[in-house]
Amino acid sequence: MSQGLGQGPVTARKSDGLKGTVLVPGDKSFSHRSLMLGGLAAGETRITGLLEGADVIATGRAMQAMGARIRKDGDTWIVNGVGNGALLAPEAPLDFGNADTGCRLIMGLVGVYDFETTFVGDASLSRRPMARVLDPLRQMGVQVKAAAGDRLPATLRGPKTPTPISYRVPVASAQVKSAVLLAGLNAPGITTVIEPVMTRDHTERLLRRFGAELSVETDAEGVRTIRLDGRGRLVGQEIEVPGDPSSAAFPLVAALIVPGSDITIRNVLMNRTRTGLIVTLQEMGADIEILQARLAGGEDVADLRVRHSELKGVTVPAEQAASMIDDYPILAIAAAFAEGETVMSGLDELRVKESDRLAVIATGLKLNGVDCEEGKTSLVLRGRPAGTGLGSASGAVVKTDLDHRIAMSFLVMGLASEHPVAVDDVSMIATSFPGFIELMTGLGAQIA
Ligand code: S3P
Repeated sequence: MSQGLGQGPVTARKSDGLKGTVLVPGDKSFSHRSLMLGGLAAGETRITGLLEGADVIATGRAMQAMGARIRKDGDTWIVNGVGNGALLAPEAPLDFGNADTGCRLIMGLVGVYDFETTFVGDASLSRRPMARVLDPLRQMGVQVKAAAGDRLPATLRGPKTPTPISYRVPVASAQVKSAVLLAGLNAPGITTVIEPVMTRDHTERLLRRFGAELSVETDAEGVRTIRLDGRGRLVGQEIEVPGDPSSAAFPLVAALIVPGSDITIRNVLMNRTRTGLIVTLQEMGADIEILQARLAGGEDVADLRVRHSELKGVTVPAEQAASMIDDYPILAIAAAFAEGETVMSGLDELRVKESDRLAVIATGLKLNGVDCEEGKTSLVLRGRPAGTGLGSASGAVVKTDLDHRIAMSFLVMGLASEHPVAVDDVSMIATSFPGFIELMTGLGAQIA
């Protein structure tokens, strides 16, 4: 789990052009959902390309604790599910570690069952708001005992018969949408989720694929109404997990900012609810060639050829946030090397990620010489294209606050900064990107 470097600070240094072709690990959102639906569906699900990060493994363990059988045969994960409606009561608390997606979605999946399930997590997950998922579950009849402020640890107990609800998602959150839909699988009748701002739609796509009766209507304003007919039969599937665009983002931005770079990242998920970062970087002048665009397992995927580029600052509209919500930390690093000012707004949700990402990014940028202002829900920064003066000559260390994306982002920053950039911890990178440091050093990055 330590990315091969042991405990303690890790430093990235100015590197020569990055070169090579890489595959990034499987998409995290897709991997969680594949294990959940595979563990629930009747019969066998075979998954290739699964992200074997700590977060997804925690989801797999939770599904095993509720009766699913999961094993690995060569490169394929084989899941034998219990059948919809037939999860078993776990004998011990489900421990999700750092994994918010696993925790929130499984709260929906099993919270509506007529038995007690207890959810626990690490220090970061225990700080994160769960009311956004617990509130709609309460409306379905779920009883909740949780730590102050609806935080973990939390124990849920469903009613004899959950009530199907119609729920308008109050924050743009795929996790909330998904938790309600997964709860709806065990409620008789139609559960409706109204989504004013479209978020990643992997749950809808995969539910359909496993055989759920699910329809989506989008009105003229883009508001989506998703209807799921509960208590249907789900059947095991063959799933190929494409590469995670939010992981590809790190080598991608590294190649853009390190002069002389030319890399290719193969098999990246290009679902349009996930490509906001690529669109924004292209507006900034990034040379990203989208090659071999194709459909694989019902999703758009492509290979990305990325070359060093002269970037320009940009204004990123709030409406873009949902399609790049996990990618602001690395976008901020790209902006630190862009000519002029970059303005990002609508960032409220960044305050409740694995860390208060807005504060942690701004603090780390300032520590490393970037001229920036942190607003309540915005970040404004002025770049230095050649990285002159960036980094820390005195060896200051960025506090990552248990946040994998913060650690990876600042390590990327160090590859093009005049001075080194150090982060306090890299162990949590394994939650989403096992092998990150090895992959980056394989491209020529100096990280040690
Ligand atoms: C995810 C949804 C997003 C994202 C998270 C994964 C998902 O969270 O930040 O990393 O798989 O549904 P929110 O739903 O809180 O925006």
